Amino acid sequence: MTLLAASLMLAGCKGNATTSKNQEDKKMQKKVLVAYFSYSGTTKGYAEKIAQYAGADLFEIEAAQPYTAADVDWQDDHSRVNREMKTEPDSRPAIAKKVDNIKDYDVVFVGFPIWWYIAPNIINTFLESHDLQGKTLIPFFTSHSSGPGETDKHLHKSINYDVTWKPAVRVNRWNDKELKAWVDESLR
Ligand SMILES: Cc1cc2nc3c(=O)[nH]c(=O)nc-3n(C[C@H](O)[C@H](O)[C@H](O)COP(=O)(O)O)c2cc1C
Repeated sequence: MTLLAASLMLAGCKGNATTSKNQEDKKMQKKVLVAYFSYSGTTKGYAEKIAQYAGADLFEIEAAQPYTAADVDWQDDHSRVNREMKTEPDSRPAIAKKVDNIKDYDVVFVGFPIWWYIAPNIINTFLESHDLQGKTLIPFFTSHSSGPGETDKHLHKSINYDVTWKPAVRVNRWNDKELKAWVDESLR
């Protein structure tokens, strides 16, 4: 009886191990990139965790002309961010560097802070600077409190070919366990 119980337990363990191994194998087959832009570090922290959970490479989207505190002063009507996001909504701030091996990736998580209710225009620059055809794109963001608003629509303007696009999600409402569950689900 004890032997039977032990064999059943072992069989059960083996089943679970195989299932989770299959899930891991599936995850491993996809080559994943986490590309993110972050001004004050919040999105960067989430991007690092997502990359760790996904077994992904990490790429920081940097502005060719880095943003200063004065640049992101949303209370100054003439600040760079207000110019880029409000006065010139189609502006495309230059990025410092591109992903050289973008063709290697099947899935690209794209992270950013919400600026004036949508993704910063530098994310449009990133999308327009790379050939993402056929890839799965998974936008994620952090914000003080805003949801995605028109973010997906704003970013779709920069993609005029076929991709699999997952709706943008706010990640800084989640704890680590929830974040990992979302990463696993996104890669399934
Ligand atoms: C110029 C500017 C505009 C912002 N606009 C919004 C907004 O519309 N809604 C919101 O909830 N948070 C807004 N925020 C707050 C940021 O989205 C939030 O602090 C984010 O987590 C910062 O991410 P980061 O540290 O990666 O830059 C804004 C911040 C800045 C600097």
